[in-house]
Amino acid sequence: MNIKSNLAVDAGRLWASLMESAAFGATPKGGIKRLALSDEDRLVRDWLKAECEKLGCTMRIDSCGNMFATRAGRRHDLLPIAMGSHLDTQPTGGRFDGVLGVLGALEAVRTLVDLGYETNAPLMIVNWTNEEGARFAPAMLSSGVYAGVFTEAFAHGVRDRDGVAFGDALAAIGYQGEEQVGACRFQAMFELHIEQGPVLEAEARTIGVVTGVQGMRWYEVTFSGQEAHTGATPMGLRRNALLGAARAIEAIDRIGLAHAPGVASVGLIENRPNSRNVVPGETFLTVDLRHPDEAVLDRMEAAFRESLAEIAGGLRLGVQESCIWKAEAVAFAPAMIECVRRGAQLAGFGGREMASGAGHDAAYISRVVPTTMIFVPCAGGISHNEAEFASKEACAAGAQVLLNAVLDYDQRFAE
Ligand code: GLV
Ligand code: MN
Ligand code: MN
Repeated sequence: MNIKSNLAVDAGRLWASLMESAAFGATPKGGIKRLALSDEDRLVRDWLKAECEKLGCTMRIDSCGNMFATRAGRRHDLLPIAMGSHLDTQPTGGRFDGVLGVLGALEAVRTLVDLGYETNAPLMIVNWTNEEGARFAPAMLSSGVYAGVFTEAFAHGVRDRDGVAFGDALAAIGYQGEEQVGACRFQAMFELHIEQGPVLEAEARTIGVVTGVQGMRWYEVTFSGQEAHTGATPMGLRRNALLGAARAIEAIDRIGLAHAPGVASVGLIENRPNSRNVVPGETFLTVDLRHPDEAVLDRMEAAFRESLAEIAGGLRLGVQESCIWKAEAVAFAPAMIECVRRGAQLAGFGGREMASGAGHDAAYISRVVPTTMIFVPCAGGISHNEAEFASKEACAAGAQVLLNAVLDYDQRFAE
């Protein structure tokens, strides 16, 4: 590899862009609420489009709202090397999850443009729509369509908890593009991201060389009982749906604990009619099970289903359960991982190999092109939280390794 050592990203410029884009959906506690296809999402997309166009990139948008900005390379016979992540956030999200991957890509391209450095292959900055799955479940929805895991019709038909369809929300913000999903092709993708866990910080490492992503499954559960007067209905005669949910939450937590390093969580609950003097008649909850080994995940699923049946039987409740999403464990491309390893070495950063506990667009994209990820530490490992924080230095280190890795990969096309 013969990357020029003067290709240094600008830490201050990257930080300024992170803070500027954080204004779109900024919360009083210093985080971001920028749910997919909301007005705030439209604003940050408009901003990204303008920034990419300032660099001379050509922006294309597909029919799931995925955004692809291309900077031409020396060679016109090659597909672009992509870098990207997502700009949507959790309802109480942070300023770095996803955003760093898109703005790190922007910073890498800005650096090359400033220095007049032309890569062999074109480069591409990508913003994937609805990675979080917070508004429209499942997560990684539009990279999933790109990878052929979901159809476009499925994605467009997915509804949020208020009944709004993804396709309608996309059209409403003006981001239903002309391109068919999959038409904006690229040959490989690197995704920079905060770790979202505590390991790098605890070990004082600058870079996580990511080798893969654990498997995950999402379920929806509804317990049905009978609405009744809280004052007049004796305890023994109740059919309390919320009590079923409470027992299920306990059981799911125990399943996670019993299958370490697996994790099992309930994150969303809706109780009906949710009135203080009505015994709850119906309770809806979402379940998230994860493990790096699919066989163990099968056992966690079986234990979860068994506990639901037992709980419902004991409380004379009805229970409906469906698995709405399965994303299998992923191993990233060894040649790409090697580019990240060398990119970190070149920058003089200490790194360690690690698997990702969180889901990422890279997990789906790895099904169609060689893909990998770069992690940087975040304070206390806290993420999906308004307090989420990655230092200016950590963000810049990640963008530097992203740039180094892309240029390393690009060297194979030198003529
Ligand atoms: C996405 O952030 C996920 O891991 O659920
Ligand atoms: Mn993310
Ligand atoms: Mn996230």
